[in-house]
Amino acid sequence: VPDGRLQMGYVGCGFMAQNVHLPNFSSIAGCRLLGLAERRPRLGRLVADRFGIERLYPTHEDLASDPDIQAVAVSAGFAEQGEIAADLLRAGKHVFMEKPMALSIAQGERILAAEEAGDARLMVGYMKRYDPGNRLARETIRSWRADGSRGRPTYARNHGFCGNWTSGLDTSTMLGTDEPQEASPWAPELPDWITDKTAGEQYVWALQQFTHNVNLLRFMLDAGDDVQVRAVDLDPDGQRGVVVFEMAGTRAVLEAGALDYHDWDEHTQVYFEGGWVHAFSPPLLVPSTQARVETYAGGDQYSTATLVAPQRDGWAFREEARHFVRSVLDGAEFDSSARDTMTDVRLFEEIFRHHLGVA
Ligand SMILES: NC(=O)c1ccc[n+]([C@@H]2O[C@H](COP(=O)([O-])OP(=O)(O)OC[C@H]3O[C@@H](n4cnc5c(N)ncnc54)[C@H](O)[C@@H]3O)[C@@H](O)[C@H]2O)c1
Repeated sequence: VPDGRLQMGYVGCGFMAQNVHLPNFSSIAGCRLLGLAERRPRLGRLVADRFGIERLYPTHEDLASDPDIQAVAVSAGFAEQGEIAADLLRAGKHVFMEKPMALSIAQGERILAAEEAGDARLMVGYMKRYDPGNRLARETIRSWRADGSRGRPTYARNHGFCGNWTSGLDTSTMLGTDEPQEASPWAPELPDWITDKTAGEQYVWALQQFTHNVNLLRFMLDAGDDVQVRAVDLDPDGQRGVVVFEMAGTRAVLEAGALDYHDWDEHTQVYFEGGWVHAFSPPLLVPSTQARVETYAGGDQYSTATLVAPQRDGWAFREEARHFVRSVLDGAEFDSSARDTMTDVRLFEEIFRHHLGVA
């Protein structure tokens, strides 16, 4: 490493890049943004200049052949960003990519094979796992499980009704050009048992939203791949309803919704025989906010508490970027690895098989 910093590239100059990831990676002392790839060349130039990025490439393949770049972050179309990640892994670059990794088990396995064939590693952007409040909730759940003081976990729920995820974000300074954006076809990446166009659109909508919630529930319960789908009761369009899982021996429920709401309506609660831990997620794009965590411990000496994480500026997306840089430099495992998210990919195929009655 030339100056001790991770030499990074970035692919894509769209909404997430400009509003979230480029500002975050730019603010991290442990890395330097050295290269940028964007298919729309004039947009690429504007964004490279704004963030002081020296090298500009027309595609991710050109960026992948830059020998000075060690790691790359990607935010592009939801079906193609995994393919971009696989190309970068094959070129030996460590990759951070936006979620979802893949639309189907088949696509996911292809991407994982690219990772496993070399030495580079892939992290997937489940930023809620890096929210300091959510991490505090998980530590509390872990310690209650370890010491048995509240009995066993009996029930977990993630209430994911969505809402206003951008919270009035000021996008007036976003850079744009009149260059047309290339279409990014996603239908070929659907599971092969989804043949109906409308079902495909509904699957993608539900996957895009609720993969976060399923991923977070698994994290809170340390369930890994020990998850089965028990029951699915969704509206025909797949946007609202409940999914019941068994996660590491605990019943866990996704309460899926789509609410026209001025705020962000999401919380996760894990019940024990003698208490609960409850984390309320903040709206996604408000920096320096984190999940609020409350606990209740029962018994004669019952108590309630509000837990506060030590970081004052802990924003899920910034902590996620820090985790990527730190883990690549230290060789530590990612808390949202490609291998781990294969469980989310499998579960969404299973949920929609139940939902559509496909054997
Ligand atoms: N974590 C979250 O909560 C969250 C929220 C919103 C979006 N996302 C994910 O972020 C991803 C990106 O969303 P967005 O709104 O920023 O997309 P976008 O369409 O605004 O931007 C993508 C950019 O990538 C460029 N691009 C595509 N392929 C390229 C290639 N091969 N080489 C160079 N440039 C290329 C496009 O020209 C475009 O400018 C989506 O997959 C979405 O699922 C995640």
